[in-house]
Amino acid sequence: MQAVSGSVFPRCWKMILLPALLLILWGEPGLCLGGNRRFDGHIRRFAVAIDTVYVATEKKLYQLSHDLTPVQSLTLRGIFKDGSRQDLFYRVSEGAEWNSTFSINILLPFVENHTLISCGVSDYECGYCEILDLKNISNRIYSENVRVGPTKRSNASVAFLVKLKKSLAHTYILSATQKYDGEFVKCSTYYPTLNLHNTNHDQMGEIFAVIDDQSTPNIICPGNMEFVDGFQISSTIYLLSNLPSGPKNTVRLNWLEAKENKVDTFKSLRTVTLSVSDGGSSRLLSSSLIPGGSLWSGVFTVDGGQTNTELLVFDISPDFTGGTETDFCQLATSKTLKPKAVLFRQKHMSSVLAVRQRSWMVFFIGTGDGQLIKLAVDKNYHTTCPKVLYKADDDRQMFPQILLDQVDRRHVYVAFRDQMKLVPVSKCSTYTTVQQCWSAQDPHCVWCHSKQSCTFEDDCKDSDWVSIPDHVQQKMVSYQLVKDSTGPIKLNVHTHLTVSQVPSNFACQFSGPSTEFCGNKGPPPQFPQCTCILINGTIPAQGLDVTIRIRFGSVILAENLKLTSCPDIRGSPSSVLCQQCVKSGCSWRNNGCSWANEGVMNDSVCQTLESGMNFSRPEITSIAPSVVSFYGRNHAVLSGHNLRDVTRVRIQMDATCSPQESPVWNNTGVSLTFHIPSSNNKGLVKVCVLLPDGSCHGNSQITYQSSPSCTKLEPSSTWSSGKRIITLTGSHLEFVEGIIHSHTPQEVTDPRSRSSQTLTYDTPAAGNSGDFYQLCFSESGQ
Ligand SMILES: *[C@@H]1O[C@H](CO)[C@@H](O)[C@H](O)[C@H]1NC(C)=O
Ligand SMILES: *[C@@H]1O[C@H](CO)[C@@H](O)[C@H](O)[C@H]1NC(C)=O
Ligand SMILES: *[C@@H]1O[C@H](CO)[C@@H](O)[C@H](O)[C@H]1NC(C)=O
Ligand SMILES: *[C@@H]1O[C@H](CO)[C@@H](O)[C@H](O)[C@H]1NC(C)=O
Ligand SMILES: *[C@@H]1O[C@H](CO)[C@@H](O)[C@H](O)[C@H]1NC(C)=O
Ligand SMILES: *[C@@H]1O[C@H](CO)[C@@H](O)[C@H](O)[C@H]1NC(C)=O
Ligand SMILES: *[C@@H]1O[C@H](CO)[C@@H](O)[C@H](O)[C@H]1NC(C)=O
Ligand SMILES: *[C@@H]1O[C@H](CO)[C@@H](O)[C@H](O)[C@H]1NC(C)=O
Repeated sequence: MQAVSGSVFPRCWKMILLPALLLILWGEPGLCLGGNRRFDGHIRRFAVAIDTVYVATEKKLYQLSHDLTPVQSLTLRGIFKDGSRQDLFYRVSEGAEWNSTFSINILLPFVENHTLISCGVSDYECGYCEILDLKNISNRIYSENVRVGPTKRSNASVAFLVKLKKSLAHTYILSATQKYDGEFVKCSTYYPTLNLHNTNHDQMGEIFAVIDDQSTPNIICPGNMEFVDGFQISSTIYLLSNLPSGPKNTVRLNWLEAKENKVDTFKSLRTVTLSVSDGGSSRLLSSSLIPGGSLWSGVFTVDGGQTNTELLVFDISPDFTGGTETDFCQLATSKTLKPKAVLFRQKHMSSVLAVRQRSWMVFFIGTGDGQLIKLAVDKNYHTTCPKVLYKADDDRQMFPQILLDQVDRRHVYVAFRDQMKLVPVSKCSTYTTVQQCWSAQDPHCVWCHSKQSCTFEDDCKDSDWVSIPDHVQQKMVSYQLVKDSTGPIKLNVHTHLTVSQVPSNFACQFSGPSTEFCGNKGPPPQFPQCTCILINGTIPAQGLDVTIRIRFGSVILAENLKLTSCPDIRGSPSSVLCQQCVKSGCSWRNNGCSWANEGVMNDSVCQTLESGMNFSRPEITSIAPSVVSFYGRNHAVLSGHNLRDVTRVRIQMDATCSPQESPVWNNTGVSLTFHIPSSNNKGLVKVCVLLPDGSCHGNSQITYQSSPSCTKLEPSSTWSSGKRIITLTGSHLEFVEGIIHSHTPQEVTDPRSRSSQTLTYDTPAAGNSGDFYQLCFSESGQ
């Protein structure tokens, strides 16, 4: 008998992609790379203040440095005293006796006061709050058995610090709590929907009290309202909620004005409905204010289900006119607010964090299938290609909160179940040329002249730098051929850059087939543009090869162009001809190609034209398989009609991203074979088939999902002669194409049967290389 290693399957699998798309899995004890921390128990809350991270799990409260190095942790247990209505909480050391767990539901760094406010409830819903030293959570400044905020069972609740009074100098805790509908236990108490709790002993009542000088102000809604987010900007407090009503849900924005006291603050409450999908049911999942203005972004489900999600932007400037505070609880509001823009559509989005970088808005988006996506958006709401910053191998759900590292603002914290990760917002240093740095379309990266490298802007303080412009632009250098009726032909060259300082040495050098290519009458180069006036009145029919060298700072950009006289780009009007015309620096007018100053130089004008091809239009009817792991798939089969002239298969994640193309084999006209390339992200991609004229046809889809993973293998031993049936249990096993044992890496065993959760195969005979071997999967038959 020979043992198959894998009888003990550790918690994490390591995967390596070999050139032939072989996927090897083997267990490696523990985790864990830098910037990754595992906790005892699932994460319930986390917060970041200055240089410290606080994490509350089901069992403990942790203090970590900003790079997730543990500093210390605390355990709280309740001891329930018979006869009393309260749990009493004590800190206990590891392993001590306890009988009630404590769950932290509020974790608020109160930075000006150098304290951390932590509140929660026991198993019996008994409340308890502590004020801890922000720098050292072992130092307790105050504690009290008091209920502040939600219980464990009303998790769709928020609590945050707000400042009231004219001076905005008094801090309170605003708690917005989902109604508790469950069974009542020992300490369950009546708790209003909105409360303002004191944060010290000098605020009309003791610390944590809700009273005011006039009464006990609060707001109580009879219905089940859920809260998603809340924050304050100067004297306006914003609160975002979902109001379910039967199968439908409406999303609401609520404003409160910070007044002299709690009563007047609650009286100022005004509510609008966010109009998301036309008439349909929508639901807010996550929210982030966009810094530096009144724009706010939210992730919404738009189809009543959980899958189809959209990232939207609203202007949430407060409007306290009309309406009353009673609108808050009611289904109908007098006002609705329409979004400014839909920025992104993707399945399973679950969390969002927005930051600003120069004039760009940058969104970090978490998904239910374990991805962190970065999306840069310009002031006209045009987006660049979304980038996956992190993707989990499996489908683990991301915690609905993403926070920025406040020390260097170069990392974000994301959490999954019992794990927290520090993910860099950019990998500027991986781009080694100014072109790559620019093409990354990442507003966080600049090309630093003194360092001759792509860096964060902060790392290039004492030098000039260049970066992408303040709006989405496909090319770093564009050019136009301009000609007035009588004048000469002019070649205008335009660079699309943001610069730290206008370069003093900006210059363009044009070289063509003859040295005297540009006349000397042209205007001097002026950043960002330079002009060449062609000496010859014409461009030869065969075109003119030109090299342009553009210099600024220490950067020299070289561009090779083939100039063609615009009126010479002729043919029957078609989108292919139009694209060729626009690409050549000309414009489209009256169904023909003209000089750039005469018509429209916008690619989108070409999309309205017929393709004009001389081929029968190909159609895709199916792709098999159309659901693959993010490693891709070899030998996929595309079926359809008129495929005969297809040269390649094009795969496009988003219209803003450059497409990937795969060659085709065994094209029969009704089917062809191609390799589905690996993907950086999970999700849907569009597929079209490419003809020799560059036109692409069809609009099919491929879905990328997580890679296969295993949790169990049975039996875990086999005869050395092989041929024992082994059953693997795991997820996404339908993507496995073959199995390899590490002692015979050349030998690929086909599965006997497979489904998503189980797979069986026959073991091969043992080799001579030892008794234990690792198990490998293959994703390709190659
Ligand atoms: C709870 O803990 C206290 C103190 O350890 C102990 O005396 C008591 O018996 C425990 N009660 C239960 C129900 O476990
Ligand atoms: C800070 O917190 C302590 C303890 O709760 C309190 O006594 C003090 O007044 C607070 N200071 C401010 C400025 O809120
Ligand atoms: C926190 O404070 C306690 C008691 O004051 C001290 O023993 C401990 O070393 C401090 N921990 C840290 C990390 O500063
Ligand atoms: C509350 O949390 C539980 C468990 O994490 C989850 O199943 C439930 O959907 C949550 N409820 C709401 C309203 O978010
Ligand atoms: C200019 O035109 C003349 C005559 O047509 C030709 O010989 C010469 O090569 C042209 N020069 C350039 C730079 O195109
Ligand atoms: C091109 O035209 C489309 C539609 O006419 C417009 O939305 C877009 O902003 C234009 N692009 C540029 C760069 O002018
Ligand atoms: C289109 O195809 C036909 C027949 O194959 C051929 O005669 C014609 O020249 C082609 N036209 C063009 C523009 O290629
Ligand atoms: C093309 O088809 C032949 C015969 O069916 C097959 O042997 C070969 O592997 C196929 N090529 C590709 C790249 O799929």
